[in-house]
Amino acid sequence: MYDKFKRKINYLRISITDRCNLRCTYCMPEEGIQLMEHSDIISFEEIVDVVKISVGLGIDKVRITGGEPLVRKGIVDLVAMITKIPGIVDFGLTTNGILLKKYAKGLKEAGLHRVNVSLDTLNPQRYNQITRLGKIEDVLQGIAEAQKVGLTPVKINCVIKKSSQEPDAIEVAEYCRKNNFQIRFIHQMELSMGHFTVVEGGDGGDCSICNRIRLTANGNIKPCLFNNLEYNIRDIGIEEAIAKALKHKPSCGSKNTNGTFYNIGG
Ligand code: 5AD
Ligand code: SF4
Repeated sequence: MYDKFKRKINYLRISITDRCNLRCTYCMPEEGIQLMEHSDIISFEEIVDVVKISVGLGIDKVRITGGEPLVRKGIVDLVAMITKIPGIVDFGLTTNGILLKKYAKGLKEAGLHRVNVSLDTLNPQRYNQITRLGKIEDVLQGIAEAQKVGLTPVKINCVIKKSSQEPDAIEVAEYCRKNNFQIRFIHQMELSMGHFTVVEGGDGGDCSICNRIRLTANGNIKPCLFNNLEYNIRDIGIEEAIAKALKHKPSCGSKNTNGTFYNIGG
């Protein structure tokens, strides 16, 4: 499918939960997070329906995100349900890696192709400061397990403040080079301020080649991360929500004032 700026839309990102087992400083406040109502969170059946209809319209790349997708109960079953849908050539999942050691094998067997794992530093103390709750050893073991079971190529998302030449970023890059992981540097963003930039080593953030639509955990199809537009699948139906998102996908992102990464899915 094509939007009105003739961009081919073939990539669906699905946020399956707004919950997370970490509290990264740039993503969530320490406490007092406004979480979605459980009854608003879309079911596996609804997710599968959206994927089926999207694939019928030309989506061939699917990514599961969060929050942290591995905290959603039944994640491996959901992956297996999506795998059964013919026509997906690239099926990935973005995770903070904390639970990856436990789930990597199951995810691979369920048909997931690959994972992107967030890692901003190799320093255990700084990792714990950034994530407030995380133990770096869990992530490193998770990444190793993903590589071992073949959820490859493993990609590492590294959030940077100013440049990919920061000491933490250089260390993460070196670790990736040694282990044959691909690295992507993501500038720290403030969605509500309209601050967004391209991803170094990835293709997010470049509006002219944007090929994405998103499904949020509460059932909204969003045409753009950097915009408030959203169309609810329960209110108007999946086909109509996708059609509206396609029709109104902005030529370029501007500001998003009603969501942040953990409830839209980065
Ligand atoms: N700016 C940039 N990246 C962010 N992420 C979460 N919040 C922000 C932010 N404010 C990243 C995470 C992860 C991906 C899902 O989104 O680090 O790599
Ligand atoms: Fe959780 Fe990812 Fe947000 Fe960190 S950036 S708090 S891991 S959703």
